[in-house]
Amino acid sequence: MNITPEFLEELRSRVPVSEIVSRRVVLHKHGREFKGLCPFHNEKTPSFTVVDDKNFYHCFGCGAHGDVITFTMETDGLSFPEAVERLAAHAGLEVPKATPEDRARVERARGLGDVVEAACRWYQDNLAGPEGAAARAYLQRRRLADRTIAIFRLGFAPARRGALLAALRGQGFSVEMMVEAGLVKRAEDGEQTYDYFRDRVMFPITDRTGRVIAFGGRTLGDGQPKYLNSPDNPLFHKGRVLYGLAQARKPARDANAIVVSEGYMDVIALYQAGITHAVAPLGTALTEDQIQALWRMAAEPILCFDGDAAGARAAGRAGDRALPMLTPGHSLRFVTLPSGQDPDDLLQAEGVGAMRDRLAAATSLVDFLWLRERGAMAIDTPERRADFHRRVRGRVKVIADQGVRMAYQDEIEARIRAERQVGRGGSPMDGFGRARPTATFARGSGDARVKRGVESRLSVAAQTLILKVIVHHPGLIDEFAERLGALYMGAARLDKLRQEILEIASQDLDLDSEGLQARLIARGHAEISTLLNGQDDLKAVAFAKPTAPFDKARAGLVDLLHRAGGPDFGDHDGTAEIDLANELDEDGWRRFLLVKEQEMALRSQFDD
Ligand code: UTP
Ligand code: MN
Repeated sequence: MNITPEFLEELRSRVPVSEIVSRRVVLHKHGREFKGLCPFHNEKTPSFTVVDDKNFYHCFGCGAHGDVITFTMETDGLSFPEAVERLAAHAGLEVPKATPEDRARVERARGLGDVVEAACRWYQDNLAGPEGAAARAYLQRRRLADRTIAIFRLGFAPARRGALLAALRGQGFSVEMMVEAGLVKRAEDGEQTYDYFRDRVMFPITDRTGRVIAFGGRTLGDGQPKYLNSPDNPLFHKGRVLYGLAQARKPARDANAIVVSEGYMDVIALYQAGITHAVAPLGTALTEDQIQALWRMAAEPILCFDGDAAGARAAGRAGDRALPMLTPGHSLRFVTLPSGQDPDDLLQAEGVGAMRDRLAAATSLVDFLWLRERGAMAIDTPERRADFHRRVRGRVKVIADQGVRMAYQDEIEARIRAERQVGRGGSPMDGFGRARPTATFARGSGDARVKRGVESRLSVAAQTLILKVIVHHPGLIDEFAERLGALYMGAARLDKLRQEILEIASQDLDLDSEGLQARLIARGHAEISTLLNGQDDLKAVAFAKPTAPFDKARAGLVDLLHRAGGPDFGDHDGTAEIDLANELDEDGWRRFLLVKEQEMALRSQFDD
């Protein structure tokens, strides 16, 4: 048997300590830890703690401490190799047979680590030296601070063909080793050797502990390929590594949050902006290994891919890959960036505040799946609608964990039911925001199933108009916040939009219309653009147009709110105090209080 450190690491990461411990000890979950009665001494109150993230157990009573392997040794009375063998069988892994070649490979890997580290230093020195001037200027143009360059150990590979080779040979490394590490290439004829990376900014790729295992090298200009990456080698397996993990690990665990972007530069820009819990795969689709690694650091990693078709595809694929693997409490979330932007671009353009807002408003996996299927095709006929339902139901079938699968199925069925309700109410939002003729709206207003709240007389068309006005003139929201807060909209999708708009506006009073729409889209309300720009009869209503002057829009809103009925809200300039409290039913009252609460929270923010 050949038990390498790599194999042990693999074993520890595959078998959660709690899984093995819970065969002997009844464990209860407390946050990220489990607690139970210590199996190593007699006790009445649990002081035995298991932390899966960190692969250990610890008893605060007797001091017993160890990992999944020592636990198996202790409780089953096994030797180290026996315990490893047993756990490997449990995990479905085969303990590698010890052959002389294996031993040689382990030795080589150790040597490879040294040669790659030496190369990293040499690249760093070159960036600082005379040949690195252009690269330094390039990094400066990309607004990287010296500190950031040092933390990520960026370097420069000069254009000369055998520069690294000569330097490393001078340090006593063999050419064979450089070739195996992917630093030096051997030409077809087997004679000529030359540096693999030339005239490129070098991004060292490390393992989780920070040891350099490979490189990505970027051209300074528009040359192709933009990035050249080390080939896989005994240290480096592309699909297992996450760029930036060494830096991100601790902040990610501390915050129980991790951001996954697509590129080296995104990770670095995010880090520099203070979002230090960011990583990236290496230009390939997220693998199961990588998803598992992310879940060991945070319950809901946020995928923040580029705002282009490739980014959307990559996010979709990651979602599909994660679905079968979901376990209670673990999921993914998604941020959609403005078209053509990656996280680095967005940070440069809008700053870290805008980035944090988007991260905070990330879409859940269930919303992501739902919207993707819903947006995939028109659902304006019964057949298409049924097909949509069939597709989403099919998606969630693949979830292996029964509890999660059932929760998803419940959620999907509830959404389908809710949609039917809205459909009967004649909402213009059926068919993913494809508007229906006004005649339908009128009927909709009649049988909208609104039993509670202030709303009673507004047609769906009027509700839509209110939303249009406030999205086009977010400045009106503050003035009419209470009124809008208590204005229940009969069509569920419209009401959801109303709530979201108020929530977003309450967080940022200075938001303009574009900003508000961007946040809505970031929160998964892509249909807002259809609502605002769809070819419908409401387009002709002047005061609801984006170009309407503020006064005109305000007058239109006041009129609509009057027509909504319910308690009067004073004279038309909106200065009178509102006596909603006496008029509202229970639901309306609750919403009224909520608005008040939000308002107070906001005030206190601005007071100091
Ligand atoms: P991007 O092209 O989005 O890279 O590719 P980036 O990090 O944003 O780089 P800048 O801002 O243009 O400098 C995303 C990732 O895909 C891989 C790299 O890992 C890159 O970071 N990639 C991209 C390659 O491996 N080769 C390429 O030619 C391009
Ligand atoms: Mn990019």
